[in-house]
Amino acid sequence: MCGIVGYIGKRDAYSIVIKGLKRLEYRGYDSAGIMLHDGKELKVSKTKGKVTDLEEVSQKDNNFFGSIGMGHTRWATHGVPNDVNSHPHLSNSGNLAIIHNGIIENYEPLKKELIKRGYVFHSDTDTEVLINLIEDVQKKENIKLGKAVQIALNQVVGAYAIAVFDKNKPDEIIVARLGSPLAIGIGDGEFFVASDASPFIEYTSNAIYLEDEEMAIVRLHKPIKVRKIKDDSLVDPYVQELKMNLEQIEKGGYDHFMMKEIYEQPNVIKDTYRGRLLANKGIIQMAGVEDNLEKFLNAERIIIVACGTSWHAGLVAEYIFEEFARIPVEVEYASEFRYRNPIINKKDVVVAISQSGETADTLAAIKLAKENGAFVFGVCNVVGSSISRETDAGAYTHAGPEIGVASTKAFTTQITVLTLIALRLAKAKGTMSNSDFHRYLLELEMIPEKVEEALETNEIAKKIANIYKDSPNCLYLGRGYNFPVALEGALKLKEISYIHAEGYPAAEMKHGPIALIDESMPVVVIAPKMGHYDKVVSNIQEIKSRSGKIIAVVTKGDTQVRDLADHVIEIPETSDALSPLLTTIPLQLLSYHIAVMRGCNVDQPRNLAKSVTVE
Ligand code: M6R
Repeated sequence: MCGIVGYIGKRDAYSIVIKGLKRLEYRGYDSAGIMLHDGKELKVSKTKGKVTDLEEVSQKDNNFFGSIGMGHTRWATHGVPNDVNSHPHLSNSGNLAIIHNGIIENYEPLKKELIKRGYVFHSDTDTEVLINLIEDVQKKENIKLGKAVQIALNQVVGAYAIAVFDKNKPDEIIVARLGSPLAIGIGDGEFFVASDASPFIEYTSNAIYLEDEEMAIVRLHKPIKVRKIKDDSLVDPYVQELKMNLEQIEKGGYDHFMMKEIYEQPNVIKDTYRGRLLANKGIIQMAGVEDNLEKFLNAERIIIVACGTSWHAGLVAEYIFEEFARIPVEVEYASEFRYRNPIINKKDVVVAISQSGETADTLAAIKLAKENGAFVFGVCNVVGSSISRETDAGAYTHAGPEIGVASTKAFTTQITVLTLIALRLAKAKGTMSNSDFHRYLLELEMIPEKVEEALETNEIAKKIANIYKDSPNCLYLGRGYNFPVALEGALKLKEISYIHAEGYPAAEMKHGPIALIDESMPVVVIAPKMGHYDKVVSNIQEIKSRSGKIIAVVTKGDTQVRDLADHVIEIPETSDALSPLLTTIPLQLLSYHIAVMRGCNVDQPRNLAKSVTVE
């Protein structure tokens, strides 16, 4: 986690770095810091809190300017979030400065060794150890900064994206990555470095994404030199043209990114199936699947690995794959899978789902699956991300940048991609009749319109939010395809409003959770008129007879549940398998409004970060 940004060129680095940090704040917001060099002096300002706090602190110094700068927004790992532990960190001589996203796992023995050699530490961070290690190597070997960074990095275990600056060499920044993303923007006589391209999108559309175990010397008026950290050999860098635009990373009139992203869903679902779902021709075409069709068709099972919301999308996919393509599916938390010596066979297809494409546990699960000979397919949103590069093949969701920490459009576009794959496999395997196949294609094509309609539940969701905003607990129940939606609804509520919420398969209620139900317990029941509707109605009866407050998500026109529930939210009709794409919408809106009414920071909930690059 953590966001890093750097600038070297002719402009005012302060405003570029501060603006860049605001765009990267989704990666962590425990503290923020900035370093500037004005040609003579190196100055640092840092503080606990957000980038706006940093602005306040740093603006007190009128002389805080320079055309070289580096900044950091932190998600604390080692050391509490306070001013001292904030980045940038300086080496003991005060010559070197570093910003770091990641974890140096062997920092303790390195620190002990450096203390023996006379180094003093001011913070509790692993990063301060790294910058002093670099300084120590530089002094001992009397070598240039780039070489010292390379030697030092060969001594560390862990993950990093770093930028290092030496005040005696103020025309260069050294960057390196292993396990955490790092992009270099190439402008006209200026360079940018950042955790993603958003800080420099308005200045250049040319960027180099460093690969793992690569470092680069970013020097003014010189071509960028990329080297392998292991052996210092030169690498030919690939300059990529960026597709992202400024509008995509701004709020566009909404109060929060989360709301903007909820409302983007009709369009991004369309973007996700565009060119892949050709309903009039009756085909689905996805290059990543077509090129590897045999592997999918011969798969003895599909193992889905993911975390958080992406894991919930995986659970929906389990139902879809098994029903459509009759392939056994297991859905695993990436963090559990990677540590439990799982049985992985060469005939397994592993599907890794990740919005960011950087989640450390998912990345580690992919590596493990590959080592064991499985074919690994990625479903990612961020183009060029680590997971998209690490997997054997994949399909992007085309959700566009998701900035709100709570995942919304990523979830529905992941389900869209996974549904397309399941349908393609069903067709190839002959496990679905032609008429059903065509019906699903047409229904999927209609989903954006229906999501649009589901968004009209905003006002009712707001009213319900107002009634239950102070409840300390909330239950979410669903069956079949909508059981994962119950889990996702509960996760959305707890992560942004800090209300304790639990999702359950509705039928499991009687095995324990029913004991929680009384007149003060709101229970959100996902009850579209399909699948196991009658059973869900029985569950609703059980809640009612214990005086629970029922908020039901129902199919338009439903009367049976309306008679039982305290509140109903109507969504358009679709088939059972596609219903999660609609039922999830009012749950996103409900949690959004509750969080806003409780005064919570919707886009940056406490203790969280968008991109979880620690294990
Ligand atoms: O980027 P990923 O999809 O791999 O992220 C996985 C989870 O960290 C993420 O879905 C998280 O649970 C969200 N905050 C949920 O809204």
